[in-house]
Amino acid sequence: MDERCPVVIDPTGQDVHAEARRIRANGPVSRVELPGGVLAWSIVGHDAASRALTDVRFSKDPRKHWTAFANGEIGQDFPLIGWALMDNMTTAYGRDHSRLRRLTAKAFSPRRVEAMRAKVVRVANDLLDELGSCATGEVIDLKARFAHPFPSRVICEIFGVPEESRAEVLRGGEQNVDTTLTPEEVTANIEQWHKVMHAFVEDKRRNPGDDLTSDLIAAQEEDGSRLTESELVGTLFLLLATGTEPVMNLIVNAVHAMLTMPDQRDLVRTGTVGWSDVIEETLRVEAPVAHLPFRFPTEDVEIAGVTIPKGEPVLIGFAGIGRDPAVNGEDADQFDATRTNKEHLSFGHGIYRCIGYPLAMQEIEFALPALFQRFPEIALAVAPQEVRPQGTFIMNGRKELLVRLTPPATA
Ligand code: HEM
Repeated sequence: MDERCPVVIDPTGQDVHAEARRIRANGPVSRVELPGGVLAWSIVGHDAASRALTDVRFSKDPRKHWTAFANGEIGQDFPLIGWALMDNMTTAYGRDHSRLRRLTAKAFSPRRVEAMRAKVVRVANDLLDELGSCATGEVIDLKARFAHPFPSRVICEIFGVPEESRAEVLRGGEQNVDTTLTPEEVTANIEQWHKVMHAFVEDKRRNPGDDLTSDLIAAQEEDGSRLTESELVGTLFLLLATGTEPVMNLIVNAVHAMLTMPDQRDLVRTGTVGWSDVIEETLRVEAPVAHLPFRFPTEDVEIAGVTIPKGEPVLIGFAGIGRDPAVNGEDADQFDATRTNKEHLSFGHGIYRCIGYPLAMQEIEFALPALFQRFPEIALAVAPQEVRPQGTFIMNGRKELLVRLTPPATA
């Protein structure tokens, strides 16, 4: 049992990196206190996390393996209750997880994703064209105008979400990572996203199309044991949310790095490093998913000299893992695209590793150079210290990214 004082997690996510450093000061595996006073464990050490992520004794199913949840001690007023109530890969373990993963993973194989390239390029170019009509020197929010609509349009097209319902269908996922919501807002969000997603599935059942939602519905109708109705809705919710939120953060964080570190941007301009170095270094220093709930040991598990008792909740601190000095050196906090070693686990590791990796990489590898090629003068429109954090501890992004695509007109 760890007797050190648990780090109290800041629900507003003001500085997820400083928080990860405080957690690491207690050790790579240490106690944290979540909003609502729930005690949990956080793993911020790279090696400890690699072990935990491949250890089959860690379940993701709160119904079976979170003792306090199963005993009814975790109420609707727990601000992260949405993460326990989902019915998808986020909360599935063992055979259930393999079954759900099999149904969706093949849709995102490198070959299938290659076939999506034309869509990705078209959506990015359309958005860049729209940005091209901005007035000289106009200040725009690049997150709202590009980093969000780009992956969200791509994933909505892949899943056949009609344009008029996209904002509603995606809202549940956005709110699910907002750790500043009140318990009442969390409950209302869960009710609302269930309603919206069920309506979307019903509509798709009546009007199937050439899209992945129709494929999942067909798989379910063929054999109900492959996917329950609740899992179908939960899986769609997960894929639409993960298809948008972390990609958006990766774009925002990479652009932010380029706009706040002119020396790093020059390295790209001069060809000293490639965009792939910038992307990998952004993934390492600014992991888009900061601190992910939940895992639950199915028995007492010892990792890095600490015993995590059976049935207690564990979070994986991806933002801290990339900055672990034990693998990336004492200057691990420093963004340096020339680093040869850019160790991170920002797409996860082991059997839960990100299904969307090939799609996310295709999106960022096209969008980032295309943006800087189209707008070589792009600059931050506010002082670097005025760029606000996203306001969540689960994700790592910015509230907005105010930029000028061209310099202001001189009088
Ligand atoms: C930069 C973009 C992305 C990042 C950084 C990212 C990160 C992650 C991480 C860290 C995990 C592991 C979660 C765990 O261990 O519990 C994960 C899993 C997952 N990701 Fe991504 N993701 C990204 C993009 C995407 C995209 C585009 C999709 C596809 C629509 C997607 C779908 C998923 C799914 C379904 C899982 C669950 C896998 C499982 O439980 O077996 N992700 N992602």
